Amino acid sequence: MTRHFLRDDDLSPAEQAEILDLALELKRDRFQAKPLAGPQTVAVIFDKSSTRTRLSFAVGIADLGGSPLIITTANSQLGGKETAADTARVMERQVAAIVWRTFAQSGLEEMAKGTTVPVVNALSDEFHPCQLLADLLTIREHRGELAGLTLTFLGDGACNMAHSYLLAGATAGMHVRIAAPAEYAPDAQVVADAAAIAAQTGGSVAVFTDPLDAVAGVDIVVTDTWVSMGKEDEKAERLVTFGAYRVDQKLMTEAKPDALFMHCLPADRGYEVTAEVIDGPQSIIWDEAENRLHAQKALLVWLLKQNAATAAVHS
Ligand code: CP
Ligand code: NVA
Repeated sequence: MTRHFLRDDDLSPAEQAEILDLALELKRDRFQAKPLAGPQTVAVIFDKSSTRTRLSFAVGIADLGGSPLIITTANSQLGGKETAADTARVMERQVAAIVWRTFAQSGLEEMAKGTTVPVVNALSDEFHPCQLLADLLTIREHRGELAGLTLTFLGDGACNMAHSYLLAGATAGMHVRIAAPAEYAPDAQVVADAAAIAAQTGGSVAVFTDPLDAVAGVDIVVTDTWVSMGKEDEKAERLVTFGAYRVDQKLMTEAKPDALFMHCLPADRGYEVTAEVIDGPQSIIWDEAENRLHAQKALLVWLLKQNAATAAVHS
């Protein structure tokens, strides 16, 4: 069976830790691994805008000896003109992996089901698992261990980042709190899945509506845009609804004195976070953005190795 990375819990706790270890090694010695030498091509497809994901996959694939093929859906046959499954059947004979930023998670599942090469979720409406590998790597660099740390995500609890924090944080044995208005609570199935993982790893998950309660004494405070891609029509209403969840210096004082601040970027400064916090001494956002590169390279190396091992068993 081809291994894919469509959601954070596609990796077991041991696999997640192995990829983070590898990412640290690749960060120390950036050009050591060349599994894509040839160069082999990796397709990186965008249905939505991107700066960091496009940059880090393009640079990372080149670092690994490969060639990135960046495809914008508007200029391709994807997006209603051809199915994801048919696209994958065409691509798998020419590329080593397919990375896709899209809307519905079901599209990624359809693509993965029909193909022999690894499919990687580069953000969907439901999850952003590559970002979480980078975020966990960044927390490890700053705090050493992940297990036992408490992290609060504030804002749109139903967005991709909140869901990925629940699953990936629980996998790492962290205590994950989501603070969101009741109508933007995380998906109940994702919370249940994360709770089941946390029961195995010693972590926990909790959903709050009160932002102050949610950040009391925590190690890490995280937020994300209140208006995710695809939700632009709801912008005016969202800016009002989420007002109480803004991360400002006063809110940060409720967390531990040395608490870290994180944001996947892009940020709407003055809305979900004040400039004082995002540019302040507790913010580790630039390390977080750089670590997309190292974490995704480790993920690709690991996926290619897993799938080479599977192919060898079946040949
Ligand atoms: N954090 C992130 O995924 O950024 P981009 O949308 O710029 O890729
Ligand atoms: N939740 C945001 C993340 C952007 C990287 C969005 O989906 O737009």
